[in-house]
Amino acid sequence: MPGTSAAGPPADAAPPAPADTSVIEVREIVTRFGEQTVHDGVSFAIGRGTLVALIGGSGTGKSVLLREIIGLHRPTAGRIALLGTDIGSAGPAALAAVRRRFGVTFQDGALFSSLTVAQNVAVPLREHTALAPATVDALVAMRLHQAGLPPEAGAKLPSELSGGMRKRAAIARAIALEPEVLFLDEPTSGLDPITARAFDGMLRALVDDLGITVLLVTHDLDSLLTVADRVIVLARGKVLADGPVQQVMAVDDDWVRRYFALRRMTGGTGANGS
Ligand SMILES: Nc1ncnc2c1ncn2[C@@H]1O[C@H](COP(=O)(O)OP(=O)(O)O)[C@@H](O)[C@H]1O
Ligand SMILES: [Mg+2]
Repeated sequence: MPGTSAAGPPADAAPPAPADTSVIEVREIVTRFGEQTVHDGVSFAIGRGTLVALIGGSGTGKSVLLREIIGLHRPTAGRIALLGTDIGSAGPAALAAVRRRFGVTFQDGALFSSLTVAQNVAVPLREHTALAPATVDALVAMRLHQAGLPPEAGAKLPSELSGGMRKRAAIARAIALEPEVLFLDEPTSGLDPITARAFDGMLRALVDDLGITVLLVTHDLDSLLTVADRVIVLARGKVLADGPVQQVMAVDDDWVRRYFALRRMTGGTGANGS
């Protein structure tokens, strides 16, 4: 039986989800703020080890959806399961257990400015584990490396890093606990194209080498074309298109046409819709 080795998993390890189970399941989500309906029946499921890009015009509810999936905002209706846990009905203990298994960087997510990069990355390790300081240091060094940062970056304050390196530091912190799922809200916005492509390559490696499932909110067409396995388009409260980028590009819709045409004209990068 898979997952039942002689030694057995550590007592606090979450059981691995069966391979045929979706890591993220979003079913008929409705979200209203007063009179405004942001989501009007949004559904999709994401399997393990895929990199999915979520796109859509500014204000279509990408960030809100991300917050709903991780349990920070309750949808008006519908059901969300993350790593097999029903987010709407889970109690505090179950939510805390799930929280250990995903990482997130928010759109305007900041590092602690008074802590060094290494101290920032160590925060989740100190909060959620009882690892010895030397082990924490070793793990931090590994996470910096996985996020594509040189070892000396660890000793720097966030303000001493370039924008691209700060985003990498945020990723290093988000993967500190070796999450199964990573949620990223516009991680390459504001980066120059070369830095953004290097960032994409690092993300792809996290998926391919570590098997992490990534849900990436992005405006970056190059990210879609080069690293996304699948693209989900939100428009008018619904999933307008869902599939490989070539398939989504061909969808007969005004927003989709304009999005891809515009990005093509501008070289595919630099624009940032929200
Ligand atoms: N806490 C909130 N209260 C009221 N309206 C909100 C709240 N959060 C988001 N909204 C509205 O929901 C819509 C979707 O927001 P958001 O998910 O941030 O869009 P985006 O797709 O650009 O990330 C916007 O019109 C926004 O103003
Ligand atoms: Mg947003």
